[in-house]
Amino acid sequence: MIMETARIIDEYDKYRNSTLNLQASENVLSPDARKALSSDMASRYSLSIGDYNAYGGTVYFDRILDLLKDNTCRLFDSKYCDPRPLSGHVAAEMSLLSVLGKNKNVMAISEEDGGYPGYSGGHLDRVLGYKFYEAPYSNFELEYDLVEEKIKANNIGTIILGQSMFIKPYDMKRISEICEKHGTKILYDASHVMGLLAGKAFQPDALKYSNIVYGSTHKTFFGPQGGIILTDEEDIYNQIEDNAIFNTMDNINLSRIASLSIAVEEMLKFGKVYAGSVVKNTANLSHSLIENGFGLLPGSENSETHQILIDPEYLKGKGFDYHSFSTQLEKNRIIIDRFGRIGTQEITRWGISDMESLSDIITGICNKLNRAVEINDMIGAKALKFW
Ligand SMILES: Cc1ncc(COP(=O)(O)O)c(C=O)c1O
Repeated sequence: MIMETARIIDEYDKYRNSTLNLQASENVLSPDARKALSSDMASRYSLSIGDYNAYGGTVYFDRILDLLKDNTCRLFDSKYCDPRPLSGHVAAEMSLLSVLGKNKNVMAISEEDGGYPGYSGGHLDRVLGYKFYEAPYSNFELEYDLVEEKIKANNIGTIILGQSMFIKPYDMKRISEICEKHGTKILYDASHVMGLLAGKAFQPDALKYSNIVYGSTHKTFFGPQGGIILTDEEDIYNQIEDNAIFNTMDNINLSRIASLSIAVEEMLKFGKVYAGSVVKNTANLSHSLIENGFGLLPGSENSETHQILIDPEYLKGKGFDYHSFSTQLEKNRIIIDRFGRIGTQEITRWGISDMESLSDIITGICNKLNRAVEINDMIGAKALKFW
């Protein structure tokens, strides 16, 4: 019998296949990674604490987890890694728990400046009991001298770098010199740029100058939804292990781990070409949009990631805000989020590189022109790469 839900899933798949996804926080899975999500593992347990596994029948899964750990360390050139977190948020929680200690003063980029909302406003700060300090930041740059003053004045124990609106790398050497002087730990939230880090196309020194790099596995990375933690420090890794099972997670979702393992193998093989193409598509699309007179946020024209940030003032002049423009695009089978980001990572995986045509489509829709034929052609040409 075909259940109603299964019917809706079929419709959903058809719908998504007939759209172009430009959401900066999502990606498409390869058929192999997707198949892994529905193996028998989807309803099993494997719960290891040290050498002890509380469940039986896990021998194949344990092989996959070992393979995943080896490959993840190799992909990111890290000494230690934990690919088990259920999401980027859980990876952040585990990482913070592992470094906070007695000093509970934490600095991060504020939500207003494009930081992750989970670090402040009564979220992780409340859950983990830390005091949140905004990092001085303007025009998409940290204000390094002011950051140092604030770290010193407030005895900041941990700084979190990385953003949800993320277009430029940091001066990691400078930040690490400041933090070393004041005994401040550096966490780097690579949720948005994990695939670009894996492909060495963005911030290649993130791990060299951070105590921990962590983030989501499904934005620029090829994985199912989940998180990864990387560190070169054994004591921190041991803390992370201690903060995993029965603290921040119980079951780790075996089929997700198997799917991630495939994604990591895909990244090892294709990551450099993929990440380079993402960054190139961003540059070409930004350039074409600007040539077409489409407004980007001032200072964001030269994004070095997968993200392009739309200027709300420009949209206002066309009778839109972020939400209504996103809705208008969606009616035309182009999906972006509701807060002004365009992401090039998924279309890159779909083999799309004609950024001039894409720019004409986006600009045309903004000017209320009919671009149905061009959209059809682009969606019809989707052909999954890098697997
Ligand atoms: C910078 C940043 N960190 C963490 C997260 C949380 O990641 P996840 O949705 O995988 O839990 C997000 C989510 O978008 C994010 O943008």
